[in-house]
Amino acid sequence: MRNALISGIGHHVPDRVVTNFDLEKMMDTSNEWILERTGIQMRRWVSEGDTLSGLAHSAAIKALEMAGKKPGDIQFIIFASLASDHEFPGGGCFLQEKLGIPGVPAMDIRNACSGFLYGLSVADQFIKTGMYDTILLIGAEIQSTSLDLTTRGRDVSVIFGDGAGAAVIIPTDNKEKGVLTTHLHADGRFANKLWADAPSVNDNPRISKELVETDRIYPKMEGRFVFKHAVSRFPEVIHEALAAAGYSKDDLDLVIPHQANSRITEAVAHQLRLGMDKMYSNIERYGNTTAASIPIAMSEAVEQGLIKDNSLVCLASFGAGFTWASALIRW
Ligand code: ACO
Repeated sequence: MRNALISGIGHHVPDRVVTNFDLEKMMDTSNEWILERTGIQMRRWVSEGDTLSGLAHSAAIKALEMAGKKPGDIQFIIFASLASDHEFPGGGCFLQEKLGIPGVPAMDIRNACSGFLYGLSVADQFIKTGMYDTILLIGAEIQSTSLDLTTRGRDVSVIFGDGAGAAVIIPTDNKEKGVLTTHLHADGRFANKLWADAPSVNDNPRISKELVETDRIYPKMEGRFVFKHAVSRFPEVIHEALAAAGYSKDDLDLVIPHQANSRITEAVAHQLRLGMDKMYSNIERYGNTTAASIPIAMSEAVEQGLIKDNSLVCLASFGAGFTWASALIRW
C-alpha cells in the first residue's frame, strides 16, 4: 500500500487587516482583553467581492505550483469549510469551476476546526487504495460575514478570521514518508456549546424575523466549556497519533495545532512537556480561521524553513461538533 504525501502547500488570506483597535470602534472591547485572553492582535477579513472559492483558488494555485502540477492533474477535490459562496452547493464545486476542471469530483466537509484533518484522512484512504493519484485538499473559511459585530457577540466575534490553505496530495512508495497515521473523533452531545443555531447569511430568505430578533443566527460559544475540553483533547489525540506510529513526543520536530487561542496552545505544550518553539503559532496575525488554520500554519512553517525534508510533524485540531483529530506526517 502507498502512503499519501503532501507535495505542495499554499495559503492565501484577504488583504483587509482588522486590528483589535478596529474592533474597539465596533463594540465594547479592548486590545488588552483580546490580547490577554486569546493572543490575537489582528485578523484578515474579506472585503466586498471576495469569495470563499476565490480565496481557496489563490491558495490552490500556490500549492499546485509547489507540487509542480496543473489544475488538469487534479483527480479529486476535498473542500473543508463551514461556509460556501452560496447557501448550497458547497465550496468544492465553485472552486472546481474556477480551476476549469469540469467532471472532477468535489467533496465538501463541514467539520469546522477539524475539517482539514478529516479531509486529510479521507485523502489518505483514497491514495492508499489507489483510487486517486492527485488530490487537492482545501481548508478555507469566511467567518467575518456571519459574526455579530455588536457588544452582544463580542466573546465570539473577536476570535475569528478569514483565509484559505491548500495541499496537493500524491502517493509515495516510501513507507517512512507522508501521512503516517490519522485519528478522527466527534462527540455530538456538545454540539450546542459552539454552534450557530440557524442560517446566518444576511439576505437568506429562510431567516424569519423571529430568528433574527432572538439572535439565533449568530455563532455562540460557551468559551470556558470549550477551553476545558480543548486542553484535554489536543494532548490526547496527539498521544494517540504518536503511539499508533511508534514515536514519542521527543521525536517531533513541530506540532501544528489548530490556531484556536494562544492560551490553549500554551496549555497543550505544557501538558505534552514540549517547548513553545515546537508549537507553531500565527494566531496573533490571523485569529482563528477554523478549517483554514492548519493548512495556513503548515504553509507558513514550510516557507519559514521550520518544516524541512524529513521533519516529523503532528497536526492536531479541536472544534465545533465537538470534533477533534490528529495526523502524524513525515515531510
Ligand atoms: N471584550 C471585552 N470583554 C469581553 C469580551 C470581549 N471581546 N468577551 C467577553 N468579555 C467579558 C465577558 O462579558 C465577561 O464579563 P463579566 O465578567 O462582566 O461577565 C468577562 O469578559 C469574562 O468572560 P469569560 O467568557 O469568562 O472570559 P474567559 O476568560 O473565559 O475568556 C474566551 C473567553 C477567550 C472565549 C475563553 O473562554 C476561551 O479561550 N475559550 C476557548 C474557546 C476558543 O478558543 N474557541 C475558539 C473557537 S473553538 C476552537 O477553535 C477550539
